[in-house]
Amino acid sequence: MLTQQTLPDEYRQLDDERLESIIRRRREQLGKRLCILGHHYQRDEVIKFADFTGDSLKLSRQAAEQADAEFIIFCGVHFMAESADILSADNQKVVLPNLEAGCAMADMADVPAVEEAMEELSEMTDERIIPVTYVNSAAAIKAATGRSGGACCTSSNARRVFEWALRGEADGGAGGGKIFAIPDRHLALNIAVDMGYTPEDCVVYEPNKLNGGLTADDVAAAKFILWRGYCYVHQLFTPEHVHGVRRRHPDIRVIVHPECPYEVVQLADDVGSTEQIIRTLDAAEPGSKWAVGTESNLVNRLAKKHKDKFIRVLSDAPASCFQMARIDLPHLAWALDNLAEGNPVNHITVEPEIAADARTALERMISI
Ligand code: 13P
Ligand code: SF4
Repeated sequence: MLTQQTLPDEYRQLDDERLESIIRRRREQLGKRLCILGHHYQRDEVIKFADFTGDSLKLSRQAAEQADAEFIIFCGVHFMAESADILSADNQKVVLPNLEAGCAMADMADVPAVEEAMEELSEMTDERIIPVTYVNSAAAIKAATGRSGGACCTSSNARRVFEWALRGEADGGAGGGKIFAIPDRHLALNIAVDMGYTPEDCVVYEPNKLNGGLTADDVAAAKFILWRGYCYVHQLFTPEHVHGVRRRHPDIRVIVHPECPYEVVQLADDVGSTEQIIRTLDAAEPGSKWAVGTESNLVNRLAKKHKDKFIRVLSDAPASCFQMARIDLPHLAWALDNLAEGNPVNHITVEPEIAADARTALERMISI
């Protein structure tokens, strides 16, 4: 278990100009040995130093492609840095500038509870249950998924992976009778409905209750068993936000991330992952109006980029991911100073056995 190395006070006392000059100097000094990755939800002052920006999967792949980069600084959250470590070469070191940058949703599922759930559920039905684990999860859960014949998914490929899980083995699928979707209940319900199922085909597994609070009849009737996790950033969007913005702007289009609650997704005009939202707004007509149900840093950046379109966050209050915000200029400057001195701090390493099984689940997803 990696313990957080503490940011020395001196970095907190430096102003932004000084911190930015440290970061620029260290980047120059490390040259091609360094690659900085920035997730779309990252704050502006940090993401401007990223060599590549993207969603979590795109960035992990990017990490794997940077063969020259000995050091990868991941300006995202912990599960993303773990995926980068799993998919990158053995000689590459992945650094998360602040270990407190976790993901609240990923933390809602821990491996003993997930393994217990898999056991309980398999005793409650004769049908094959295939775990499908959202990339927003710890490496150990991805590994348990890989060992149980399941696959990972992201918000952009979840439907494809769900279809694979339920397809017969003769047709290249996993031959599952049911899916156990971990950890985001909203994403899973939204995808199930998109595939033509109904909310009645889904049941929620409550990890703090015996058998998840489910009876054998509940499990028999369900096609999808949903771990009770959610993202607090996307869960804050409500149907009232959609009605309110439409009242104020009758010609506005509403686009939301599939981590939003089902009722919100049902009212939206479009639903898509971070990358899909960016592509849609990039291609939108000048003068068009958009209310976007996802993290505020990304939405505000899109609004600045497309001054000829009206783009705003769907909610009235900002939708901020506080974990992502824990990567700031002081932590980035400190991580770079230490790298340059050959002493990487907060180096993310996934144990080899866990990494091997997690890679199975990730590679299965990539091949679907
Ligand atoms: P992406 O997979 O689109 O990067 O989303 C990650 C995330 O944390 C969404 O809340
Ligand atoms: Fe996790 Fe939600 Fe933050 Fe994404 S936005 S990293 S799901 S807490």
